[in-house]
Amino acid sequence: MKKISNILNRKKGFYITTPIYYVNSRPHLGHSYTTIAADVLARYHRLQKEKVFFLTGTDEHGAKIEKAAQETNRTPQQLCNENSKLFKKTWQNLNISYDNFIRTTNSNHIKAVQRVLQILYQKKFIYKGIYEGFYCLGCEQYKTKNDLINGKCPDHQIKPEIVKEKNYLFKLSRFGNILRKKITNNEFEIKPEERKREILGFLKKGLQDISISRQKIRWGVTLPFDKKHTVYVWLDAFLNYLTGLSWDGNPENLPKFWPPNLQLMAKDILRVHATIWPAMLLSLNIPLPKKIFIHGYFTIDGQKMSKSLGNVFRPEEMIEKFGTDATRYLLLSSCSFNKDSDISWERLFEKYNSDLASGLGNLVARIITLAVKTKNQEPRIKIKDQNLEIKKVIQSSWRNYKIFLNEFKFSEVLKEIWKLISFCDRYIEKERLWEKSKNQLSAIDDSLIILANIAQMLQPFLPETSEKIFRQLGIRLNGQEWCSKVRKEKILFPRI
Ligand code: MSP
Repeated sequence: MKKISNILNRKKGFYITTPIYYVNSRPHLGHSYTTIAADVLARYHRLQKEKVFFLTGTDEHGAKIEKAAQETNRTPQQLCNENSKLFKKTWQNLNISYDNFIRTTNSNHIKAVQRVLQILYQKKFIYKGIYEGFYCLGCEQYKTKNDLINGKCPDHQIKPEIVKEKNYLFKLSRFGNILRKKITNNEFEIKPEERKREILGFLKKGLQDISISRQKIRWGVTLPFDKKHTVYVWLDAFLNYLTGLSWDGNPENLPKFWPPNLQLMAKDILRVHATIWPAMLLSLNIPLPKKIFIHGYFTIDGQKMSKSLGNVFRPEEMIEKFGTDATRYLLLSSCSFNKDSDISWERLFEKYNSDLASGLGNLVARIITLAVKTKNQEPRIKIKDQNLEIKKVIQSSWRNYKIFLNEFKFSEVLKEIWKLISFCDRYIEKERLWEKSKNQLSAIDDSLIILANIAQMLQPFLPETSEKIFRQLGIRLNGQEWCSKVRKEKILFPRI
């Protein structure tokens, strides 16, 4: 991993975050989806030569973690250490290129959180009062009556507890109007549109002050002005987006990468990210994130995947069966980014065999075999002689690629690349490339050029595969130059 200080010293650029994940569970496919998506964007922006900071990490305080530790006979800290390590390992196995992995039990993070709490208290945004409401432990969120279906939290299918306590409250109610304004005029952008409408609808009803401390919960950051209380886990968690950039809690001294250009998450945590989070920043006079993007859930048999429902799909199993790049491909292509998508092993196997083994893998093997047979005397390709029709097809592919990527439509971007793969297959058939003699090399050059573009498009999505294709083509990665001979290597995606 790069040294954080080196990255922070560079010029301002693209700052992207995932949520930090609760360590009461091991990483599942839902977490992996957000993280792979963020990784694709981070890699893409790096390839555009932007300075990128990509932050992820683990959320380690609160009642949920305390309970999970008790149930497994560990101390909360032990549980956090073990599970946080598992998240790191999974991200390594998925080739996630994060710049920092933040843990909320880091002492620097805790100090910064306490400093912020003290400021908010002094500024009278935090006050003592009585709070009564429903609390869902699964979400670690207060719920209104309207949020519940048959008295249960629809996401976790559990009855929330009724909490009535004397504790500290945050003046969230003050921020409803200003947030509505900032969201409406996209100063604080929420994407896609339907999610923005949903939040605006919620804000229209007005915001209420929220309880931000508990006496009963011991596993949390203590309030600096009342040591008997620990702070509500979300306030602690949100500040990771700042402390992850080595922030010390001083609002006058913000990190260079601030504010985030993009925060990715699923809809379960949009409401808190569009209310409590920006309200905290506004009360500290800190600029708001530029954009929040909400993606859909992975569902299994139509239900949200979650530990409490016991229907969890693990990334490790997928990596074991398909490999790293194939897992990245299968996840991003099976799910349309802003809708819920159902997955099953059967469909994943089908997709692996059709798109990766027969599609991409087969095309690479076919072209490289032909090129090795006919071109091994002449490794360099004459790009200037490129066929005009092919050039147009490639250009239009790149255009759509960029449009879809800017809209975070990952499955559409991949579809576009796969269209180019089928085009190339058809071209080989049409030109009957396998019959070409040594003096008819231009058609083979054309297919090599298409393949080089495919490899380039795949770079942020399937980084290892892209590198393998470049190597077989004899192209130096990141360079346009054909510098050595085309050579054949092992098959990319064996059929399963
Ligand atoms: N710790 C909080 C977030 C704090 S951020 C300041 C949290 N953690 S979580 O472990 O529950 O992870 C929530 C996030 O994981 C979701 O927003 C989403 O990004 C991802 N996913 C969890 N389940 C998912 C699916 N079934 N499908 C897709 N992504 C989902 O909430």
